[in-house]
Amino acid sequence: MTRRYQIAVIPGDGIGMEVVPAAQHVLETAGRRFGFELAWHPFDWSCKRYHELGSMMPNDGLDLLRPLDSVFLGAVGYPGVPDHVSLWGLLIPIRRGFQQYVNLRPVRLLRGVQSPLRDREPGSIDFCVVRENTEGEYSEVGGRYAQQTADEAAIQTAIFTRRGCDRVMRFAFELASRRKRHVTSATKSNGIIHSMPFWDERFTAMSAEYPDVTADQYHVDILSAHFVRHPDWFDVVVGSNLFGDILSDLGPAVVGSIGIAPSANLNPEREYPSMFEPVHGSAPDIAGRGIANPIGQIWSGAMMLEHLGEHDAAAAVERAIETVLADATLPRTADLGGKASTRDAATAIAGAL
Ligand code: NAI
Ligand code: MG
Repeated sequence: MTRRYQIAVIPGDGIGMEVVPAAQHVLETAGRRFGFELAWHPFDWSCKRYHELGSMMPNDGLDLLRPLDSVFLGAVGYPGVPDHVSLWGLLIPIRRGFQQYVNLRPVRLLRGVQSPLRDREPGSIDFCVVRENTEGEYSEVGGRYAQQTADEAAIQTAIFTRRGCDRVMRFAFELASRRKRHVTSATKSNGIIHSMPFWDERFTAMSAEYPDVTADQYHVDILSAHFVRHPDWFDVVVGSNLFGDILSDLGPAVVGSIGIAPSANLNPEREYPSMFEPVHGSAPDIAGRGIANPIGQIWSGAMMLEHLGEHDAAAAVERAIETVLADATLPRTADLGGKASTRDAATAIAGAL
């Protein structure tokens, strides 16, 4: 009996439409080798749809996704639609509606990829950023005051709940228990005097439940500096929505290219589908040329297979990525110093698989 998974596919905008089909090809190859099938359900939700129909996705969009096993997303956002409109019209409703409260972003220096940092060996940088994905600084609470006058003001309120902090921190400690047993919290309790001391309190309370895991914390400013100077210090780094967002672009930058960085938006309880997407956006500067690096999308697909329970296939896809990157004679895209097209880079990975 073949295992069969129902996958929503949202290529989105820009290079999303190029890297998603390339990654689908690799994941189908994995399915043939490991004995499962992926039934793709495509959705054209995008800025193009917004221009044509006035919204990024239909009103019942979440109902359409809900019965499926996972969501495989490219990138959304394109010039012509303000970024807050595209983000709040698609990505954020899915993350929140499906309680995908963990945004998991692995950071690993792979053989064959040049780090901008001097003298870093493959494997010497290997950590995960666990970003809170449903509340915090990215809230709808606030407003504008006295618009278009000299007294004009904007107020934006952050929301930190005990439930929201505890559940993402618990995920971080559980993850670290299976890795190098070390969790670092990103804080800023010197400057932000209500929410961040609360975040620290919850971190202290949660760490008491995991005596076998080392817990430490840094203010996010010096933590950013440590990502550059001492990336080998870290195992699991947990941060609020904003801090996690910033750190999870910085992390991939120190291990080479944003084009290879994967992410998972997880609902760990599996009450809803989880969503898998590369860290990068729609890259309008290179879109339509067939030169985008498909690896971030493919690696996100490996995280999806892992979540679906296809552990061997997930590991094999990651190994295939490493094999291709390690061999300078195999195709690689321009962001990694090569000349290959998106399709050729993906075909090489499917071949290694
Ligand atoms: P971006 O990640 O799209 O591009 C940043 C730079 O990295 C560009 O120079 C781009 O060419 C390069 N790059 C990105 N992915 C690459 C790949 N796979 N291969 C080779 N080079 C790659 O970020 P940017 O420019 O800030 O945002 C562009 C649009 O994407 C905006 O509308 C933004 O809102 C949206 N966006 C969407 C995200 C999502 O869907 N999760 C995440 C980040 C941005
Ligand atoms: Mg980001």
